[in-house]
Amino acid sequence: MTILVTGGLGFIGSHTVVALIEEGFKVVIADNLSNSSLEVLSSLEDITKENIPFHEIDIADEKVVISLFEEYDFNGVIHFAGYKAVGESVSEPIKYYRNNLLTTLTLADVCKKYGVTKFIFSSSATVYGDNNVPFDETMQLLPTTNPYGETKAICERILTDLANANTDFEVALLRYFNPIGAHPSAVIGELPKGIPNNLMPYITQVAKGNLKELQIFGDDYPTQDGTGVRDYIHVMDLAEGHVAALKNITTGVHIYNLGTGQGTSVLEIVKTFESVNNIKIPYKIVDRRSGDIAFSYADVSKAKKELNWSAKRNLENMCRDSWNFIQAL
Ligand code: WQD
Repeated sequence: MTILVTGGLGFIGSHTVVALIEEGFKVVIADNLSNSSLEVLSSLEDITKENIPFHEIDIADEKVVISLFEEYDFNGVIHFAGYKAVGESVSEPIKYYRNNLLTTLTLADVCKKYGVTKFIFSSSATVYGDNNVPFDETMQLLPTTNPYGETKAICERILTDLANANTDFEVALLRYFNPIGAHPSAVIGELPKGIPNNLMPYITQVAKGNLKELQIFGDDYPTQDGTGVRDYIHVMDLAEGHVAALKNITTGVHIYNLGTGQGTSVLEIVKTFESVNNIKIPYKIVDRRSGDIAFSYADVSKAKKELNWSAKRNLENMCRDSWNFIQAL
């Protein structure tokens, strides 16, 4: 089976490409390199020992997407391509709505035209809003605190309506919690451009000496130590979750949480990273970051039951692999 992976040179996309090829799938990558680099392609070919067709294109451009579907006989798509910086989405909402909605609308429309009915969408736990934990897939979604989260919720609705109108479509909406870690080879991992927004890439830059200290956004949340609690999942577990979804997908639209079901605080992550890697991470408690919520972690029973998938790697693996990747740069 040949799978189109949009955003396939990004953090989660690249790890999913490895998992797909190891499972015997043929993969074609489309990426516009807005938040990734071409070096990742050669790293992927080194890891998989396969030549991987790559097209530097904008998925929002229908003409180029059509020519891609003319060139390859795709059996399914995994759609990662999209902007994902929460803070940037607040300051540049139009950029986020245009890109994240247009890419999804264009890709879904061309899939329909070419009879490609397996569609796996990269969604996010953000769509739950400040709901009661653990978040489960049947929950009524609350408004998210940012345009990024809204684009994910809207894309979920677009793909749900597509599946309802075209009963041969098999759609999986995968809601990621907090992916961290890196491939054990340490040749691919998380390396955002500029100052990292997310916790782990910030910690690894402090560990590397490129940033002075970690700023912890608030220690006055109603959590065990006052700092924010999240469901951190190893990016390889997340990648394997995509393979499980592709192999088990059926007609209709199916929503799955991809998390561990465990909540971990910022301070617990810092302490685990320090002890696993024997490195001190200096930090300072500062004000809360606007839009942050106290708790976010998953009820993961549905993916276990229907996809026979659950996360296997623990926090120590995540902290070690994140650091190994940055150290090897
Ligand atoms: C985690 C915790 C922060 C940075 C977002 C998106 C989600 C997904 C992952 C795209 C929080 C604290 C963080 C720092 C800190 N993105 N923190 N200092 O906000 O849970 O989720 O990124 O798919 O959709 O919503 O992730 O890593 O930014 O924050 O104290 O420098 O770490 O307050 O409690 P978040 P995060």
